Amino acid sequence: MAAEPAGGTGRAARGGRGPVAWWRGRSLRFRLTSAASLVLALALATSAFVFVEVLGQALARSVDDGVYQRARDVVALSDAGRLPNPVVSVDNTIIQVIGPDGRIVNATPGTDRLVPLIPRGELAAAARAGSFRFLDGRPYALPRTLLVRALRADHGVTVIAARSFAEVEGSLGTTAHVLLMGVPLLLALLAVASWLVIGRTLRPLTLLRRGAAAISGTARSPRLPVPEARDEVHSLATTLNAMLGRLEEADARQRALVSDAAHELRSPLASIRLQLEVALSHPGEQDWKETAADVLEDTLRLSRLAEDLLALARLDEGRPGRREPVDLAELARATAERHGLAADVSAPAAIVAGDTLDLGRVLTNLVDNAVRHAASSVVVGLRVDEHMAELTVTDDGPGIPAEHRQRVFDRFTRLDSARSRDDGGAGLGLAIVRTTVEAHGGNVHLEDASPGLRAVVRLPLAHP
Ligand SMILES: Nc1ncnc2c1ncn2[C@@H]1O[C@H](COP(=O)(O)OP(=O)(O)OP(=O)(O)O)[C@@H](O)[C@H]1O
Ligand SMILES: [Mg+2]
Repeated sequence: MAAEPAGGTGRAARGGRGPVAWWRGRSLRFRLTSAASLVLALALATSAFVFVEVLGQALARSVDDGVYQRARDVVALSDAGRLPNPVVSVDNTIIQVIGPDGRIVNATPGTDRLVPLIPRGELAAAARAGSFRFLDGRPYALPRTLLVRALRADHGVTVIAARSFAEVEGSLGTTAHVLLMGVPLLLALLAVASWLVIGRTLRPLTLLRRGAAAISGTARSPRLPVPEARDEVHSLATTLNAMLGRLEEADARQRALVSDAAHELRSPLASIRLQLEVALSHPGEQDWKETAADVLEDTLRLSRLAEDLLALARLDEGRPGRREPVDLAELARATAERHGLAADVSAPAAIVAGDTLDLGRVLTNLVDNAVRHAASSVVVGLRVDEHMAELTVTDDGPGIPAEHRQRVFDRFTRLDSARSRDDGGAGLGLAIVRTTVEAHGGNVHLEDASPGLRAVVRLPLAHP
């Protein structure tokens, strides 16, 4: 549960070279803000460009409409032979009327009467194109940009009409300027806003990290701060807290096991010590043989306890034990014979995959319990159905009340009746039975045999 220093992986990434490593080393807040700002910048720049472009086209079209209108009027007057000389200037539209010989025959006042705005060679093509063109007016002492159109009239006459585009260009320039200043400003504002909003969004994560860093191995019931908002961070925090709860439970179980084990070790050790102390203080009057026998008995209890604890520790590691074919029928018969018990084995063979020693210990533990509590008889039974082998150990003792039949499988659990007995064990027998059987894919339960108790172990057959 020790907290890892914050940014441990970040530092490792920063150790690398190149922009990718650099980018990975930045904080999530920085990366999110940068990415959002980049996308915004692209979107804003594109919109600004498209806006100026579309505005320019619309303005050009409206200027062109006026120029075209005026040119058509002049063509109509020329065709009717009623065109005044010089042509009247309407809305600052410059007019040049070109005769069939290519010379300027009429023009608005103040307009060049020698050089046509569109060179002679291009005039026919320009009139046929039916669209406007832009022209630099400075060689003609006219405004910088001119929008020009050419229209054909009768008798080989061509009318050129032009109007200054300078004002439109001016306002487009102003618009572009405003956008050029405004877009970066807007972008900066949005970036700051994103930075703040993302910071706010990520704050629960920071709190979570701080909470995790503050958790130490000795803290009691450590929990992470759960944000109020019902979002992803909320579910992360609750999930992590559930995990902490489970770890805490496992830790508590482990501590209880250690303290129970120490407790169990204490009484045989105290007994050995007392006997030896008494014997040594009165060596002459001592029956050493009896002392040795008593000490040996305590030593056997100690070594059994050590073995049981070791077996449980091995099972807890969850390492899959050996998986060899074990004949339960043979195991049941042999165990019954060894203890001088009746065997009720109906199947000739019942092969399960497992560890012979572990399964042998299961049966021995159950038989030990039964023999210890039985009034007169203990029967070891085995039945087989399609998929399962059912191993039973039945005694005719006092049995176990239904409400305790689950609890006795817990480690170091002995019922009061057993606690007062001299020959009682540490209370690990049934715990080892259950853990072993479950590791073999089976299950175990206790039931009433009226009178007495029946332990039922069901294990999957290797070859059903
Ligand atoms: N056949 C039985 N009849 C009555 N009570 C039983 C029987 N088997 C077990 N118990 C009760 O269940 C308790 C737990 O059994 P378990 O085998 O786990 O421990 P134990 O026999 O006391 O000690 P250990 O098996 O470690 O030597 C026993 O202390 C006893 O009270
Ligand atoms: Mg036992």
